[in-house]
Amino acid sequence: MILVFGSVNVDLVARVEAIPRPGETVLSPGSTTHFGGKGANQAVAAARAGAVVQMAGAVGPDAFGASCLENFRQRGVGVDAMQQAGLATGVAFITVDRQGENAITVASGANGQIRAADVPQGWFDESDLCVLQMEVPLAETLLAARRARDAGARVVLNYAPAPARIGADLLDGLLALTDVLVLNEHEAATILSMAPRGAAGAEGLARGFGLDLVLTLGARGADWLAADGTRTHQPALPVQVVDTTGAGDTFVGALAAALAAGQGMAQAMAAATAAAAAACGWEGAQPPLG
Ligand code: RIB
Repeated sequence: MILVFGSVNVDLVARVEAIPRPGETVLSPGSTTHFGGKGANQAVAAARAGAVVQMAGAVGPDAFGASCLENFRQRGVGVDAMQQAGLATGVAFITVDRQGENAITVASGANGQIRAADVPQGWFDESDLCVLQMEVPLAETLLAARRARDAGARVVLNYAPAPARIGADLLDGLLALTDVLVLNEHEAATILSMAPRGAAGAEGLARGFGLDLVLTLGARGADWLAADGTRTHQPALPVQVVDTTGAGDTFVGALAAALAAGQGMAQAMAAATAAAAAACGWEGAQPPLG
């Protein structure tokens, strides 16, 4: 079983010619509403890849929250570990340009009130894998990682979105609890600029923390850097891009599903890369229902 501890949002999406620069206003013909949130997208992708998944996230006492729960149910993601917060359900404001690239602002709302301590112990005990991201408070992510590790689950951390500032001790603590770290190039540069445990380069990070590091490279595929210093490249599949939103989350969810099914890293990377390519072909962060 996979436990995803993390964010749940509703995405409000506007397609534009070009993403506005600071101070600029651009027009879009209209907006669309999708289910999103990095944690939710990863849970949905893992379930779609065949895993048994429980989502531990927080939504508000509003219509968006109720529809997020219903979306999970329809996609086969368990909601027994979901929490009800006092703030509004998270909303992401997303602009997507002509090339399918995006810019995202997340109004966290309920996500900021998630409590790792409120996840019943049984969900950690039953998990083979716990999937985490950086879209909920760091202290809660840390506690979830610690509880997952103590319960014998492997921890998959997607360091997204990379925080601009994080204490060196906190970063060291989080990486020490991580078995598989998934970074895009921006996140890798951010983390390496802080040189956790003196790590020199991505290889040093994998070796220093004894973890498997997966570096996603967009259209160039992904690299797997093992703790023993080996690097394996997984090429991307050719794809007609409609919208890249959530492609990275789909990669993480599919990777987790493959690992939970007992596959090795190389096989899991191939499955994740194929799933991420498919995710670039639909509008929004999650696949169309039905
Ligand atoms: O990674 C894409 C996701 O980031 C969107 O679904 C949005 O909700 C934000 O969390």
